[in-house]
Amino acid sequence: MATEKEIVVSGIRPTGYLHLGNYFGAIRNYIRMQEDFNCYFFVADWHSLTTHPDPKDLPGNVMRVLAENIASGLDPEKVTLYVQSDIPEISELYLLMNMLAYVGELEKVPTFKDKVRLQPENVNAGLLTYPVLMSVDILIQRAVKVPVGKDQGQHLEMARNFAQRFNHRYGDLFPEPVAFNYGDNLVRVQSLDGKGKMSKSENEMATLYLSDEDDKIRQKLKKAKTDSGSGVPGEPMPESVQNLIELMKLVSTPDTVQFFEDAYNNGSIRYGDMKTQLGEDMVKFIAPIREKAKDLQQDTAYLREIMKAGAEKARANAAQTLHQAKKLIGINYY
Ligand code: TRP
Repeated sequence: MATEKEIVVSGIRPTGYLHLGNYFGAIRNYIRMQEDFNCYFFVADWHSLTTHPDPKDLPGNVMRVLAENIASGLDPEKVTLYVQSDIPEISELYLLMNMLAYVGELEKVPTFKDKVRLQPENVNAGLLTYPVLMSVDILIQRAVKVPVGKDQGQHLEMARNFAQRFNHRYGDLFPEPVAFNYGDNLVRVQSLDGKGKMSKSENEMATLYLSDEDDKIRQKLKKAKTDSGSGVPGEPMPESVQNLIELMKLVSTPDTVQFFEDAYNNGSIRYGDMKTQLGEDMVKFIAPIREKAKDLQQDTAYLREIMKAGAEKARANAAQTLHQAKKLIGINYY
């Protein structure tokens, strides 16, 4: 057999609409990885249940996040794309892995402690064991690389701990997964109001969604924070202007970026012009993704086909791991 590609797993939460930060922070990495690795990407619908989404909304959210990811360039022919709840093997291994997870270590996880602080009225057991489920998502496919941001570092460390603990007690089965990103590809898109990272939950006008209509995009950029006046030549660029330049670097031509950098440096910059230009380039970037996502979302038959085909492949691989795990544990009676 030819050398096999390394296995990659990543989970996508079906909450909120995808925005530019998701695109340049995560999806672009996925798109590159699909060429180099054996990728298993899934919608983490079980994980989303920790916050009790409205049952009426869940199917639409799952379909939308699939459509938006495919529209952004994930190719269902190249990656195994599936929905977590279509893989019952995950729930069985989750049960088994819970026996190796200590309540004490789960209670110490920073994301859990945050939730306890932020939503004390809903500290459910699923929240506590979230890292166990996430570890199983990864381990059941025997993944070695996981494209996640820093905020998931602790969860990944737990996945390695659980893998080690299982291997040590029952015999070698799980490789230890590590976080992976193409370093040069990691872009942190800043919010348009200059208040940190672009995110779904904060100021809606400061976030560019892949579903935004053209006029909305233009309007948001018009309102983006800049300096007044035309800057002081020789002085370092204010952060707000720097942020717009960074956005331009993502969606405009190098010539355009150069033009406005030069204009800043020689004191002739007009922020209104700059934002109009950025608005047009952003529209050119987002519109095709938005339209493709819309079409895909209408085509539920196609999306279901993708989900089914993905689930079949993911289940086949997961079933092998689960079978081995049970055998090693001693659930081996026939
Ligand atoms: N916890 C991840 C997040 O919040 C989502 C996730 C669930 C995940 N299971 C995973 C990511 C497995 C990578 C691998 O974004």
